[in-house]
Amino acid sequence: MTAPKKTMLSAVQPSNRLTLGNYIGALRNWAQLQKDYDCVFFAVNLHAITQRQDPKELREQTRRAVATYIAAGIDPKEATLFIQSEVPQHAELAWVLNCYCYMGELGRMTQFKDKSAKAGENIPVGLFTYPVLMASDILLYDTDLVPVGADQKQHIELTRDIAIRMNNAYGADTFRVPQPVIPQVGARIMSLQDPTAKMSKSDPDPNGSVYLNETDDQIRKKLKRAVTDSGSEITDDESKPGVRNLLTIQSALTGKPVSEIVASYAGKQYGHLKVDTAEIVVQSVSPIRAEADRLMAEKSFLDQILQTGAEKARIRAAKTLKRVYEHLGLR
Ligand code: TYM
Repeated sequence: MTAPKKTMLSAVQPSNRLTLGNYIGALRNWAQLQKDYDCVFFAVNLHAITQRQDPKELREQTRRAVATYIAAGIDPKEATLFIQSEVPQHAELAWVLNCYCYMGELGRMTQFKDKSAKAGENIPVGLFTYPVLMASDILLYDTDLVPVGADQKQHIELTRDIAIRMNNAYGADTFRVPQPVIPQVGARIMSLQDPTAKMSKSDPDPNGSVYLNETDDQIRKKLKRAVTDSGSEITDDESKPGVRNLLTIQSALTGKPVSEIVASYAGKQYGHLKVDTAEIVVQSVSPIRAEADRLMAEKSFLDQILQTGAEKARIRAAKTLKRVYEHLGLR
């Protein structure tokens, strides 16, 4: 008998269109790893409302996120695909975990510090407890591996801490303790306009990000305008974050080591690097855009996948929640 596959789980927040950073840091790796795992992927729309969203757009972006997973290579016949809000156990377990997570821990989360600094005076409580809902997402499915970009590592460490704390108090089988999987290349793609900051869906400057539903020409324009520096030699160097970012994007998408790419640019200029990077990005993004558009137009196909996925997810999540409630004396 073969051992059951381990569970791999991940998600994207549908707070805007997905970016090239989401593809390189996450989706691409989900697709590469999927065949060896029992996969659970979903769109975290409950996380998205930690910032104000337009309801119509949120609904659309949420479906588009899942369509993009499939377009990026996730096999909908194998993976469990769904929308977070359709599985009520995520919010239920989050409450329980809230009682075992400390204010100090959440206050130390880098993403909270960044986002709350931007939110000004009125910081929603949800922004603070956001990582607890993420821990619930992960722990509900007895997850082994969580493939994410570097920015989510701290949240997964917190998830592990909460799980270990509760296992110590209520028995080692309360939760499976997950591991993050961070890609070697491309774990942190930077903004095209400010290469010292992460490429982010929530960046108010749309020129900083390549979105996965943009046209080839829009992509080319953005890469042509990518901020570099006043030098001219193409080297992989800390002092050249803009050049390094373009080299990283190329390396992640082609699989070639950065050193080999640098060597191929001997005597060439930044302009060459930008044009070539643009073509490589277009080659990756263009088929994803076309397939996601097609899936968005074919409403019943996506509806069916999401309905089946939510049903499967609810059964699994209910089983875990029942186990946790029993361990805690809640039933
Ligand atoms: P989110 O929506 O910000 O990002 C989704 C995934 O994309 C990765 N990522 C990047 N990787 C490389 N370079 C970038 N510039 C870049 N920007 C984003 C992220 O690391 C992530 O893997 N809290 C999560 C969503 C979430 C989740 C979960 C993830 C909720 N529950 C459970 C895993 C498991 C988030 O906001 O990701």
